[in-house]
Amino acid sequence: MSTTDSCPSEANAAIGKMRGSEHGPKNIDVSALVDAEGGLIDRSIYTDPGIYDQEMRRIFARSWLFLAHASQFKKPGDFFTTFMGQDPVIVTMDKTKTIRAYLNSCRHRGMRLCRADAGATKMFTCTYHGWSFDLAGALQTVPNEKAYPEDFDKKQWGLIEVPRVAEYKGLLFGNWDKDAEDLEETLGDMRYYLDAMLDRDPEGTEVIGGVMKWELEGNWKLAAEQFATDWYHVNMSHASALMVMSPTGKGPKAEIVATPGRQFLSPNGHGAGFPTHPKSRFDAQAVHEHYDYDALRERLGDAAVEGPMTTGHATVFPSFSYLPVNGSIRIWHPKGPNKIEVWAWILVDKSMPEDVKDAQRLYNLRTFGPSGIFEADDGENWSEIQAVSGGFVTNSVPLNFQMGIGSEREDGVYPGQTSELYSDAAGRSFYRHWAELMNTPAWHERPAPAPAGESA
Ligand code: FES
Ligand SMILES: [Fe+2]
Repeated sequence: MSTTDSCPSEANAAIGKMRGSEHGPKNIDVSALVDAEGGLIDRSIYTDPGIYDQEMRRIFARSWLFLAHASQFKKPGDFFTTFMGQDPVIVTMDKTKTIRAYLNSCRHRGMRLCRADAGATKMFTCTYHGWSFDLAGALQTVPNEKAYPEDFDKKQWGLIEVPRVAEYKGLLFGNWDKDAEDLEETLGDMRYYLDAMLDRDPEGTEVIGGVMKWELEGNWKLAAEQFATDWYHVNMSHASALMVMSPTGKGPKAEIVATPGRQFLSPNGHGAGFPTHPKSRFDAQAVHEHYDYDALRERLGDAAVEGPMTTGHATVFPSFSYLPVNGSIRIWHPKGPNKIEVWAWILVDKSMPEDVKDAQRLYNLRTFGPSGIFEADDGENWSEIQAVSGGFVTNSVPLNFQMGIGSEREDGVYPGQTSELYSDAAGRSFYRHWAELMNTPAWHERPAPAPAGESA
């Protein structure tokens, strides 16, 4: 399997073609809304529709966004439909087994081209007037084509293609910016933390079951930021779940707050938090018994096995998060400033026996499935934050991200900068990067190059 790398089709020249700069949206300077050094965040960044629209242009239209898992594509024509920000996309394997992604909107009059969640096909045929496109995005047939003007060129009317698609150990990401830094560079040290989930076995990973999808009231950043940074909500928010899962039934003890662990923060906005324990283990008994911990230590190193391999959570900026202990990988699709659509997959090692995969699936559903005992707690917090954010006074009061200011350092064990486990450090760096992108023009805002022969 390969992925497309910087090969926008001729059709992509159509992006923004009819829109002169005078119709460009007004951008908001967010400098005053994020104080990453002081740990203060203005609440309007979760509610302001203008800021949300700017995120679509300056965050989602230029960042590497999770599309799907490679195991969802086995043969040419396999496809999966998803979103990049609010842009609908079709991800498919073409005849050469290359993974490509296209805007899921017909070039004729804009109908949603592919209306299925996933499947296999030879062509994508629009159900409105019947234009049909092949797996390479080329417009192949147009009913009544003779009625179009002589210079009607089907090459110009192919699907708009996502110019960059790249894979990192089974995770497929797409980027609308053809000149974006490579995925691996953008991930940087985050690869080490991802590897603790993706690279436990030479055969790699796969997703099992379908994609679980549910809606939450709340801004997408509340979820993405929490998975990057906030470990300390666990004891309070999930107290009842911890009680259910505790062997004594008494739930969290006071000393949990002293749990050793680290939190990784990336200059590119990623974050990962994890307790560390020399006897780190998986909660699903069958999964715990399946793993040969000595072999894992050999493969990943002691530090990865004792920390980021199990009970952590993490976010790849902007909107991909995961929980290695139960194999939950998910994307927080933004659906307006006040709504998130969560899409979650269950990830397992390909080489696991079926009964171990099943044990992981059940543990995943019990804890972080749509009605999982932990998942429900988190969604409730985000929805309640959003629900009370509309009032003028409420919205004017800054939020606090000050835990662990100054604790960021290179710890000599874990790659990159880390902080204490109980800290807001990765939250501050998430919003620092967010603000940088929000205040920097993206690829689609750069002036078009002057025609050949004309000087600037
Ligand atoms: S909108 Fe697709 S063929 Fe007309
Ligand atoms: Fe949580």
